[in-house]
Amino acid sequence: MRRRQLLTAIPAIAATSSLLKTPGSYAGTDSWKTQFAAALSEDPSLLGFRSVSAPAFDSQASVEGKIPAELSGTLFRNGPARHEIGEFRYQHWFDGDGMIQAFRISADGISHRGRMVATRKYLAELDAGRALYPGLATVPPNPAPVTSPDQVNVANISVLPHHGKLYALWEAGSPWEIDLDTLETVEIHKFADAAGKTGLTAGLPFSAHPRIEPDGTLWNFGYLSTVGKLVFWHIDSSGVVKNVGAIDCDPMTMPHDFVVTAKHLVMLLPPFNFTAMSQTSTFLDAHQWQPEQATRVLVVDKNDFSQYRFLELPAQWVFHYGNAWEDETGVIRFDAARAPDPLTMTDSFHAVMKGVRRDSGHSTHYQYRIDTRSWTISEQPLLTGFNSEFPAIDPRVSCNRYSQVVMLSSERDNPSRHGMLNAVSRFNLGTGQLDTFRYPDTIIPEEHIFVPKPDSAYESAGWIVGTALNYRSGSTELRIFDANKLSDGPQAIARLPYALPLGLHGKFV
Ligand SMILES: [Fe+2]
Repeated sequence: MRRRQLLTAIPAIAATSSLLKTPGSYAGTDSWKTQFAAALSEDPSLLGFRSVSAPAFDSQASVEGKIPAELSGTLFRNGPARHEIGEFRYQHWFDGDGMIQAFRISADGISHRGRMVATRKYLAELDAGRALYPGLATVPPNPAPVTSPDQVNVANISVLPHHGKLYALWEAGSPWEIDLDTLETVEIHKFADAAGKTGLTAGLPFSAHPRIEPDGTLWNFGYLSTVGKLVFWHIDSSGVVKNVGAIDCDPMTMPHDFVVTAKHLVMLLPPFNFTAMSQTSTFLDAHQWQPEQATRVLVVDKNDFSQYRFLELPAQWVFHYGNAWEDETGVIRFDAARAPDPLTMTDSFHAVMKGVRRDSGHSTHYQYRIDTRSWTISEQPLLTGFNSEFPAIDPRVSCNRYSQVVMLSSERDNPSRHGMLNAVSRFNLGTGQLDTFRYPDTIIPEEHIFVPKPDSAYESAGWIVGTALNYRSGSTELRIFDANKLSDGPQAIARLPYALPLGLHGKFV
C-alpha cells in the first residue's frame, strides 16, 4: 500500500463526523440515564453497567483465605467505565471511556488502583462538561466534528504489557501508553512512528487483541472500514515495527481478534458487512448482518503479508479465539467461542444500557482445522450444552501447540438469574475434560486468566485469577484458584471496598 493510500485510510469511526445526527433526532437521549437508574433500583445485578463513581481508585483489599506464596505480580485490566457525562448516557456498553485497573498481588496482600485513561476525548469532554463525540453506537446531542480516529479513541478494551511498557488498547486507533506504577496516562503511542523506513503513516488502527509469541514477538491487525483494508503488524520484542502491510477486504466486517501460528495469521471475517454510513446511522448501525453469506477465513503468510488466501465457513460470529498452532504437516488448529450471529453486540449490549436484560445469545466453543496443503477448513463443536467466552491460555504456549483453555462459561440448562456467564472453566481440548467453578448468582464473573507457576511445565501447575462483581455486597472481588483444583473453589478472595463497572480484558505481569 502506498503512503497516499494510507493517509486516506482513516478508520470508519472517523467517518461518523460526516453523518452526524441532527440534535433533534436525539430528543429523549437523556432518558437512557433515567431509565437505567430506575431499572438499577429494581435489579441490582445491573450494577456492573453503572457509570464509574470516581476517576481514580486506590485501596487495600480485604483478603479471605491464603494468597499462594509464589504468586506475585500485577493483574492489569481495562474496560468501559465512564458511561455517563452529565445527563447524557451512552447507549452501548462498548462506548464508555476506558479505566485501567491494577491488582497488585503478593503474599502480603492485594492492593487495587484504578485510573481513567486520559485520552484526548476524555480530557476534551471533561473540559467541555459534556459528551462531544460519537462512539461505536451512540452519538451525543450536538456532536463535535471528528477529524481523526484517535480524537475519539476511548482506550477501553484491553491492556498490552510489552517491552517494559503498558498500553491501553482500543480497536480503531493507536495504543495509549500508561505508567506501570501510577497508571497515569503518558501519551498516545504511534508504533508506526518507530517504523522509520516503512514509509507508512502513523495512527493506523491497532486492535485490542495482539498475539505475542513466547519470545516477545508481537503480531496484530487493524481494520479500515471506509477503504476496505485490513492492516497487519509485526513488532519485535523491543517494540520496534518490523513490518506493516495491508490486504484488501471487501466487504469489510468488524474483526475483533485473530490467531497466529508458526507460519500464519488467521482470522474469521463474519458477514457483518460494513455499508455506507447514512445520516442517521452510527458506526455499528452501518453494519448489516447477512447470514446468507459465508464467513470468510483469511489465512496470511506471517513472513509475507502479500501472500494470503480466503477460505469459507457458514455464517457465524466470533469475538474471541483461544489459541492456534500449526503442525509439521501444515495443519492449523485453533479454537474460538462461536456464536450464530452478532446479536449480543447489536442488541443485548444496547438494551442493558437502559437497564433492559435481553438473552445474550449462545456461543459454543469450537475447534477449527485448516489444512494448508489442500486449503480446506472444517469446524466442530467441542463443548455442547455450555456457553463460553473470554478464552485464555497459558501465555507460554501462545501461538504454539496447546491443549488447555480457561474460559467463562454457563450451562445452558441452568443459567444464572443475572443472565451473564456465571462460571469459570478449564477445558482440555484434547480429552474433553472440563473442570468448572460456578459463582453464586449474586456474583458476576469477569474474564479469568491462567497464571503459570514459575518453572512449571507448560499448561500444568498455576493459578486461575479473575475478577468478579458481587452486586449484593456492592464490591468488586478478585479470586485466585489453584488451576488444577478449580472446582474446589478459590484459595483466596480479595474484596475491594467499592464496585467497579464490569470490564473486558486483562493481562498478568
Ligand atoms: Fe475482546
